[in-house]
Amino acid sequence: MSIIRWGLLSTANINKRLIPAIRMSQRGELVAVASRDEKKAKAYARDWEIPTAFGSYEAMLTSGSIDAVYISLPNHLHAEWSIRAMTEGVHVLCEKPFALSVDEVDRMITASELNKRVLAEAFMYRHHPQTRLAGDWVQRGKLGDICFVRGMFNFTIQKQHHIRLVPEYGGGSLWDIGIYPLSFAQFIMGGPPTWVSGSQWLGETGVDETFAGLLHYADDRVAMIGSSFRAPFFTSAEIIGTEGRLAFNRPFVILDETRKLIFQPRDGEPREIPVPEKELYLGQIEDMHAAILDDEPNYLSLDETRNHIRTAEALYRSAQSEQVVHLD
Ligand SMILES: NC(=O)c1ccc[n+]([C@@H]2O[C@H](COP(=O)([O-])OP(=O)(O)OC[C@H]3O[C@@H](n4cnc5c(N)ncnc54)[C@H](OP(=O)(O)O)[C@@H]3O)[C@@H](O)[C@H]2O)c1
Repeated sequence: MSIIRWGLLSTANINKRLIPAIRMSQRGELVAVASRDEKKAKAYARDWEIPTAFGSYEAMLTSGSIDAVYISLPNHLHAEWSIRAMTEGVHVLCEKPFALSVDEVDRMITASELNKRVLAEAFMYRHHPQTRLAGDWVQRGKLGDICFVRGMFNFTIQKQHHIRLVPEYGGGSLWDIGIYPLSFAQFIMGGPPTWVSGSQWLGETGVDETFAGLLHYADDRVAMIGSSFRAPFFTSAEIIGTEGRLAFNRPFVILDETRKLIFQPRDGEPREIPVPEKELYLGQIEDMHAAILDDEPNYLSLDETRNHIRTAEALYRSAQSEQVVHLD
């Protein structure tokens, strides 16, 4: 096998970002799409010029026509369909948040091991050169000892009926967008926090429409994260160390021409750090190809992914109990 045949599991909005990335990749081709509704699948396949349409998710997974599947379902269905795909011998790239509990993550990892299938979280920004550069700077001590990581992701939800507002679907701003600064903090700090404190503001449907979290790490390091469905679109992040500050105006999404990475040294003027351009969604596809075809470990490990979910669960527990929660 030298080309990975991809299938899309659902006709989700986010697919429009993955489709060009698969087509841009050297070793992938998009061969199928599946929807719960056959007509919808066929119309989608026609619009996006995808060769085969399936009227159910099962039909695509059992067809033998795909090697890997991209799971872009509402959050509460990620674990179930990832496991079903791997049981049918299909490799899985599953959207963030990967799952809604550590228990679900562990079942997904077990399915990956039992069926010897590659499984990875689709967290595109982690693969981008800008994020990698930040990690490299921290590793090399260019910012000195890290004191703070701060990150925020907001956008306004207008619609009343929206998967992100349904509690049973794993709705909520922390699961949906707060998970970006959470994962960023964890990447920069090199692991999960020792204890967390969370605060949430619930909307009419009962999900957190705004979330604020403090993540405490060993050696007096702290991360502050925030997310909201009530505020205008905004993303930012910064890493503050004893030798300087690295500030991102587009850390997570839409890495367009307005993106800037600024280094403010302890002594001296702020300066822009050049970052190679790369299509935001391509890295995670290439990473899957390397894992499947070259037996390479995934760049975003399942251990790191598991810690995203562990920390998010702890933050929700803290917000609900109004108590600090320790991660053991
Ligand atoms: N990485 C990123 O940049 C990014 C951006 C946005 C979203 N996401 C993630 O991608 C996933 C999908 O988000 P989205 O906004 O693209 O979702 P969406 O447009 O609402 O699509 C979700 C799809 O899931 C299928 N589905 C199955 N059961 C469903 C149910 N009970 N209710 C609604 N839809 C159901 C539907 O496809 P069929 O009708 O065809 O079966 C639907 O089109 C989420 O996990 C989200 O966190 C990631």
